[in-house]
Amino acid sequence: PQNAARGASGEITVAGVSASALAERFGTPLYVIDEADARARARSIRDAFAAEAAAIGTTATVYYAAKALLTIDVARWMAEDGLWIDVCSGGELAVALAAGADPARLGLHGNNKSVAEIDRAVGAGIGVVVIDSAIEIERVAEAAARLGRVQAVRLRVNSGVHAHTHDFLATAHEDQKFGVRLDQAVEYASAIRSYDSLRFLGLHCHIGSQIFGSDGFAESAARLLEVHAELLKGGEVPGLNLGGGFGIAYTSADDPTPVAELAHAIVGSVARECARLGIPVPALAFEPGRSIVGPAGVTLYEVGTIKDVLVTVPGEHAAPATEAVRRYVSVDGGMSDNARTALYGADYSVRLASRVTDAQPALVRIAGKHCESGDIVVNADYLPGDVRPGDLVAVPATGAYCFSLASNYNYLTRPAVVAVADGEARLLVRRETEHDLLARDAGYSAPTSPADD
Ligand code: LLP
Repeated sequence: PQNAARGASGEITVAGVSASALAERFGTPLYVIDEADARARARSIRDAFAAEAAAIGTTATVYYAAKALLTIDVARWMAEDGLWIDVCSGGELAVALAAGADPARLGLHGNNKSVAEIDRAVGAGIGVVVIDSAIEIERVAEAAARLGRVQAVRLRVNSGVHAHTHDFLATAHEDQKFGVRLDQAVEYASAIRSYDSLRFLGLHCHIGSQIFGSDGFAESAARLLEVHAELLKGGEVPGLNLGGGFGIAYTSADDPTPVAELAHAIVGSVARECARLGIPVPALAFEPGRSIVGPAGVTLYEVGTIKDVLVTVPGEHAAPATEAVRRYVSVDGGMSDNARTALYGADYSVRLASRVTDAQPALVRIAGKHCESGDIVVNADYLPGDVRPGDLVAVPATGAYCFSLASNYNYLTRPAVVAVADGEARLLVRRETEHDLLARDAGYSAPTSPADD
């Protein structure tokens, strides 16, 4: 694992704490976050963009995309490390505010923000609201006027560039729900400028997630800057937000471009495009989530059952089909704590975490305990052939979009989130209890305690 090492005993340790000590103290499944690792990634991304921006005479603000992983402590780390925070619901805003984050350093996203969410954000003094539709211009303007504020806003546009992993796709119009069409940006920007209660900061675009190269960003930036140059004819356009989406390695087959190189390439392409257009370079902003917390997380599970299933492997060409064994190793969580394999066909790896053995590796599939055959955590990887019930296994690179996408499917309780730093583990979010689940059910009457008798 990128963020977990083998200690002297051969056990997997995270920031100096062994997997079995973590499991014993907090139970499994367990989300473990290496605090120093997450924070170092946050600072290095912030610094890389700041340095590249300074080199071309501008600034870069890095927002942490809270949707990847949000707890009060995580929000505090990001704020302390000089990042701004991007939230996309009233709930995420509540966590960032509870963390004591400066509202002026928060941004609010969402393609369907409620009026209550807009009011709350504007009322709290949020730094930026990203407007996602024409309807929202008036809603945000009205809220700001009513609350006696001048609200800074960006306009989210759809550049027609959609990037995923290696490739990007560029069309005139992309068929998705976010943002407004690029050819409507001039009209909407002038609508924004017509309100005294709004201050137009510029365009925003997010082209996708888990992106390995810089070409999609450069193409999108070039398209945005053409429009940005048009907008300059109607007044000030201080900034440009190019979104997040920097990819990480989930398995050794993944080879994302290091963020420092991405920063160099993206900021460089902005500088060249601005020079070509003869316009000043705007203040830049970025919104990474996954690349900050993803590699810093490991999920620990306990193995419960193991079975060898006979599978038929179709023969190649005219060869007859053969039978092979697939070893299903079932763990005590599954798609409720990591939906990504079932939802996106994501790849993960797995390690035996609680002991060392010299048994030969066996090809395994890590399944969860849900009542659904698609409930897979790790599709294919190797574990020592003597893996047995009670073993702990670790699935690395689960810091992003695992806790935040967790569910209570089959009424499983959501796992605890623990931070480990300097050989000490600390609870960030406690494990859910059955009482938490039942308490929301109107038919539930809690058992009376002796004191109630
Ligand atoms: N900004 C905006 C407007 C976004 O929509 C997103 C992610 C980000 C920034 C951060 O992107 P990141 O740097 O984390 O890639 N659940 C999916 C990913 C959904 C991403 C949604 N938007 C997954 O687990 O792969």
